[in-house]
Amino acid sequence: MTAVLSERLQEVRGQFPALSRMGPQDLPVVYADAPGGTQVPNGVVDAIRNYLVENNSNIEGEFAATRETDALIRRARELAGVFVGGHSNEIAFGQNMTTLNFNLSRALGRTLRPGDEIVVTQLDHDANVAPWLLLAADLDLVIRTVRVTAELDVDLDHLHALIGPRTRVVAATLASNAVGTTPRARLISDLAHEQGALAWFDAVAFAPHLRIDVKNLGCDVLLCSPYKFFGPHLGLAWIRRELAETLPAERVRPAAEYPPGHRFETGTLSHEGIAGFCAAVEYIASLGSGAALSNQLDDAYERIAGHEGDLSRGFLDGIAKVQGVTLLGRPGTEGRVCTFGLRLHDADPAAVARALDARGIFAWNGSFYAQGVMEALGLSVDKGILRLGYVHYATLVEIERSIAALDDILRGGC
Ligand SMILES: Cc1ncc(COP(=O)(O)O)c(C=O)c1O
Repeated sequence: MTAVLSERLQEVRGQFPALSRMGPQDLPVVYADAPGGTQVPNGVVDAIRNYLVENNSNIEGEFAATRETDALIRRARELAGVFVGGHSNEIAFGQNMTTLNFNLSRALGRTLRPGDEIVVTQLDHDANVAPWLLLAADLDLVIRTVRVTAELDVDLDHLHALIGPRTRVVAATLASNAVGTTPRARLISDLAHEQGALAWFDAVAFAPHLRIDVKNLGCDVLLCSPYKFFGPHLGLAWIRRELAETLPAERVRPAAEYPPGHRFETGTLSHEGIAGFCAAVEYIASLGSGAALSNQLDDAYERIAGHEGDLSRGFLDGIAKVQGVTLLGRPGTEGRVCTFGLRLHDADPAAVARALDARGIFAWNGSFYAQGVMEALGLSVDKGILRLGYVHYATLVEIERSIAALDDILRGGC
């Protein structure tokens, strides 16, 4: 079967009610804001509503709604296990990626000694940097920061130089939320493991675009956020089983110890969010075909990558002709996702984002908590850059509209 998503794009888009929102001049809104969070299909909306209407309850009781909630959470762990290529027992849900990462890093911190070293990268969102900085301040750990290359990728030579026998964790992103770079994650985890360190990956900006497979990535911990991949506001962590079983998690005494991933969940989860998460995974799987869920997801992500490759080519060709803007990071489609960081020569990113909004184009300005990237670029965190990012439900027409609007604004048409 052919891996072409563009042929069924209208049907796909029809599943997302937000995509029919109209903007100025009776034109539909262009969602170039995807790296900040994606829109959700009807299946997700229905699942959240149905849970709240039909099954709303707490867990582990002796009546129907609570049993249904237990079953929902079990199913969500199964789906999440397949989604990341791991096992259901290794899954923890939480409020968002940041909160889970604070919980998990605190748990690991209870096993660390003064002088232990943590390697972070300049490419990362602060959610995979700040938890380590705070831990280091509390425990007298040493933080080493890997710089980025001119193309805004993790500098692997520098990483190699920084990792040593005292390194306990290498915390790195699978995709930059600011400029879209996708570092060579397997090399990073191999380098970490050669020194006996853990590979701790942030997959938040990767998951909407590319298939996660924790075995191929060779990592120990991986975190992502379903609201970035067509689901509700929720966080998701995969923790390699042995770690999930042994890390000294901070938890209330009566809470169950099994499944191991559950040890990192504190308090009552967003059950309606978890219902929406299941529907989001099913939605992605529905874009592909195959005998089992994992095959469907493999195929779906291949189709997503094919269509997003076309979108990226369209964007890169178009932006090269716009004056007054520099594309940051990778110039081609290789080694990147469909997220484009733009440095504006003279214009203010916030003013341009407002002018795009006036033309019905939603796009983000700022630094997106990617402080290291801004530092590497010599840009102020307050002012930052303009970011246009797309996911598979975008069309080439929307890319063209985005580029034409930006061109018009930068020529003085604010
Ligand atoms: C790459 C990346 N990592 C981490 C986060 C934080 O995720 P959350 O909002 O789920 O805490 C974000 C949010 O934008 C992100 O883009």
